[in-house]
Amino acid sequence: MKSSEAVTAPQLLEMKQRSEKISVLTAYDYPGGCLLDAAGIDVALVGDSLGRVVLGYDSEIPVTMEDMIRHTAAVARGVERALVVTDLPFMSYQVSVEQALTNAGRLVSEGGAEAVKLEGAAALEAVRRIVEVGIPVFGHVGLTPQSVHAMGGLKIQGRDEDNAARIKREALALQEAGVSAVVLEAIPAALAKEITEELTIPTIGIGAGPHCDGFVLVAHDILNMYQRMRPSFVRQYADVWQVTLDAFKSYKSDVKEGRYPKRK
Ligand code: KIV
Repeated sequence: MKSSEAVTAPQLLEMKQRSEKISVLTAYDYPGGCLLDAAGIDVALVGDSLGRVVLGYDSEIPVTMEDMIRHTAAVARGVERALVVTDLPFMSYQVSVEQALTNAGRLVSEGGAEAVKLEGAAALEAVRRIVEVGIPVFGHVGLTPQSVHAMGGLKIQGRDEDNAARIKREALALQEAGVSAVVLEAIPAALAKEITEELTIPTIGIGAGPHCDGFVLVAHDILNMYQRMRPSFVRQYADVWQVTLDAFKSYKSDVKEGRYPKRK
C-alpha cells in the first residue's frame, strides 16, 4: 500500500524547482520494487527494457501490454513510496488516440502504474488526451529504443545540428502537450544541459551527461545481473552475477557431495 510520504508526479516539478536531483531506477518484479523503495529511490520505472534484461529478447520490440501490466503489478505490490511509472510498449500508443488512451488506462487500472511513459513526439495528441483524463505522462527523446530500426541501431543521437534541433523541438512539444517529465537518452551533455535549462519540467538523463534534473539507469546493468555489453556510461555498483553464480555452484557441489541436506 502507498504511504502518506509517497512521491507524486507534481512533486517532481517541485524537486526541479528546488534543485533536488531526482533518482530513478528500473524495476520489473516484486523484490525489485521492495529493494528500490527500501533504498529511497524516487521513481520506479517499469521500463520496456524488461524485454532485454528479464525476458531475454534482443530488443524492446516484442514486449506486450500483458507483459507490462503483469510486471507493473508485481512492482507496485512492493512499492510504498516511489512513484511507479510504466512504459507503454511498442505499438500500444501509435495507432490512434483511442488505442493510446485505452492502454494507458489499462496500465493504471490493471497494473497499478501512477504514470505512463512513451517515446518520441509523434503521438502528441495522445499525450494531451492521456494527461486530460488524469494520467501523468513522461516523455522520452534522443535514443528511443522502440525506433531501433529507424535509428540504424542503438546509437548516440543529437550529434549533428539538425538532429539536436529536432530533439530539442520534441522535448518542448512534449512539455507543451502536458508531460510531467522527459527522459533524455544518449545525447551530448551540452544538448541535455540546453534542454534542461529551457524546460520548466524535469529532465531525467541516461547517458546524457551530468546536467539533467534527475537520472535513470537500468537496475540489472548497475548490478551486473546478466552478461551483456553495458553502455559505457553505466556505473556498476555490485556484481550480483558473480555472487549468484558462486552461490549456485556451492549449492550444486553440496548436493553432489552429500553436504546438503543434512541428516537432521
Ligand atoms: O525501458 C527503460 O528501461 C527505459 C529507460 C532506460 C529510460 O526506458
